[in-house]
Amino acid sequence: MKNYLLTPGPTPLAPEVVAAMAQPILYHRAKEFEHLFEQIRIDLRYLYETAGDVLLFTSSGTGAMEAAVCNVLSPDQKALVVRGGKFGERWAELCQAYHVKLECIDVEWGESVEPAQVQRHLEQDTEIRAVFVQASETSTGVAHDVQAIGEIVRKFPQTLLVVDAITAMGVSELRTDAWGLDIVVSGSQKGLMLPPGLAFASVSEKAWSFVERAQLPRYYFDFRAEQAAQRKLQNAFTPAISLIMGLAVALQLIRREGLEHVIARHARLARMTRAAVRALGLELLAKRAPSAAVTAVWNPPGVEGKAIVRGLHDRFGITIAGGQGKLSGKIFRLAHLGYVEAGDILMGIAALETVLAQLGVAVTPGSGVAAAEAEFTRNDG
Ligand SMILES: Cc1ncc(COP(=O)(O)O)c(C=O)c1O
Repeated sequence: MKNYLLTPGPTPLAPEVVAAMAQPILYHRAKEFEHLFEQIRIDLRYLYETAGDVLLFTSSGTGAMEAAVCNVLSPDQKALVVRGGKFGERWAELCQAYHVKLECIDVEWGESVEPAQVQRHLEQDTEIRAVFVQASETSTGVAHDVQAIGEIVRKFPQTLLVVDAITAMGVSELRTDAWGLDIVVSGSQKGLMLPPGLAFASVSEKAWSFVERAQLPRYYFDFRAEQAAQRKLQNAFTPAISLIMGLAVALQLIRREGLEHVIARHARLARMTRAAVRALGLELLAKRAPSAAVTAVWNPPGVEGKAIVRGLHDRFGITIAGGQGKLSGKIFRLAHLGYVEAGDILMGIAALETVLAQLGVAVTPGSGVAAAEAEFTRNDG
């Protein structure tokens, strides 16, 4: 059976990227690698919309999240975490692992944080040294308004804003410098159309001053060591060279399409998916601010746990994601990020309709596809 990937990471690989990764490996201290890395550093700045360094790490995205915690804080300092899903929980767990004092804004899963809540916490507790939030909370398919939060946090010189943009980078608008985002973390297996294994972190001027003072232990993920090495077009340790060769091409693909167009494509795919799901009588988990990366949908009444995920996989070779944490068995998630286009969405929705009908859900065949097509056409003319 032919296989299709509609998961929120890993995402499908662009063939050009696969071809680049299959090339004979380079030595990471050789001139050829330095040339490649020089262009990558420029292209990462373009992607991030920053004039500063975007550091690269060989790890999954969580590695860069951990780096963001241990490079800016000291033991017993306080962090404010927006906890509205599995990845918000991860920020809290990371802070706890490093004995950072924790204050959380618990957001109902499916809701987006009210930026004014962040402001209230910062005004009431002047000990907070960093705010941690997701730009796109992948477990619930909700976006948090990091632009508005950036406006707030920049008024507090003693506090940094750290954004997990793992499913937002190269997907939705994220203007690192203009929005005052101090550290922005991303990973390779999402909007970058690469396999897992690379993670990235931008570091603002404000954040560098925290890095110098931070007392938490760090070694592999030390921003200072990586900045020093990467400015010399090296990496502090042996990086995932083949992935970096793929990254060079992936970034070129984004440049060729143009970041604006990449963002517009994702927005359209997300709208198509939401229109289809609604037309099928299903309910979105996101109460507002749905993510452009992934659409989370409640299972229709009477449909058992993972039946939809299983049906798509077994009947059509389409892999989508189920729910995570407390949403396990309750939702399914259709992803639309990375190397994905409108045809993939139409195919996924057609298969979804078929599986729903087979599970006994009352759906009008073709209604989801028609809604997605209408959304596609509406934005095409
Ligand atoms: C928003 C978000 N944060 C963090 C992660 C964790 O990244 P990784 O699995 O690459 O460590 C993911 C992965 O799905 C994610 O979507």
